[in-house]
Amino acid sequence: MSNSGRVDELSTAFLTETGAIPALTGVSFDIRPGETLAVVGESGSGKSVTALSAMRLLERNARIEADALRFRRRDGSVIDLARATEKEMRRIRGNEIGMIFQEPMTSLNPVLTVGDQIGEAVAQHRRMSRAALRAEVLDLLGLVGIPAPEDRIDQFPHQMSGGMRQRIMISIALACRPNLLIADEPTTALDVTIQAQILRLLKRLQAELGMSILFVTHDLAVVSEIADRVVVMYGGTVLEQGAVGDVLTRPVHPYTRGLLDSLPGQGATRLRAIRGTVPAPQDRPPGCLFAPRCDHAREVCERARPALVDRGEGHPARCVRSPEIAP
Ligand SMILES: Nc1ncnc2c1ncn2[C@@H]1O[C@H](COP(=O)(O)OP(=O)(O)OP(=O)(O)O)[C@@H](O)[C@H]1O
Ligand SMILES: [Mg+2]
Repeated sequence: MSNSGRVDELSTAFLTETGAIPALTGVSFDIRPGETLAVVGESGSGKSVTALSAMRLLERNARIEADALRFRRRDGSVIDLARATEKEMRRIRGNEIGMIFQEPMTSLNPVLTVGDQIGEAVAQHRRMSRAALRAEVLDLLGLVGIPAPEDRIDQFPHQMSGGMRQRIMISIALACRPNLLIADEPTTALDVTIQAQILRLLKRLQAELGMSILFVTHDLAVVSEIADRVVVMYGGTVLEQGAVGDVLTRPVHPYTRGLLDSLPGQGATRLRAIRGTVPAPQDRPPGCLFAPRCDHAREVCERARPALVDRGEGHPARCVRSPEIAP
């Protein structure tokens, strides 16, 4: 495997009192060394469940099935995370795979200094003296662009701005120099200026550390800023995927086109959202998942779920009508 990782036919369901909720069906993509792969889609499309399934961090009622969740380890060997032991997972999480989530999910501990929290992340996987640990934490604070690390190391999270706190979260994620960073909406809670700073920071860190990034976002503007390739998700499946330059300039699926049309700034007057909403997992139609919201839907779309294939457009999409409806 020359990739850093590959998700192969991942399907995740949640077992509830009222039955199984199929959150994901047959999600596949790969992540190449040193690239940023964005996973984009509206709320409820399955982005977070994809990231959390790959890390096996879902609640106990989740059933994860996959042909494989391959990950290339630091020593070059390949492990299937779908079949790894919990002990192996603990060694990989936060060490070989770093994670950052939107702030509410994994906020910092308010009663510990940021230095202690970063130090804890470092010490979890590496043994070192107190002095060496402090030096390493100062290095990490510098790496993520915190000015005057000596003054900041002993501060508490509430003494810092939202943007600073997100930098601290990033330093924790990078504490063990992972070869893959999973970032789930890491900038969504931040204002636009700070968001741009954090995206620049991630790009710089990626170049310095040579890691791959799996970047989850609902925002195509962010995708065009940061990603090399993009996976467009809808209703727990992949509807389109390819290089960012291709997908954003020559989108194939009406859903991707709809997402692009609803971006602000494209001559703001014609801003329009896609009509309707993402169907709940229990209410998915039998044919194309997007058909109920699609202006191009015909009977053929309702018969069977379209395959994810390249119909001559240069990258794959799940739309049987794409050659006919090309702009
Ligand atoms: N623990 C759970 N139990 C039952 N259903 C769940 C659970 N977690 C997620 N789901 C369902 O799985 C689907 C995908 O959710 P997910 O959180 O991955 O969406 P998302 O794309 O990350 O959305 P957002 O942009 O809002 O974060 C949703 O329909 C959601 O309701
Ligand atoms: Mg999410």
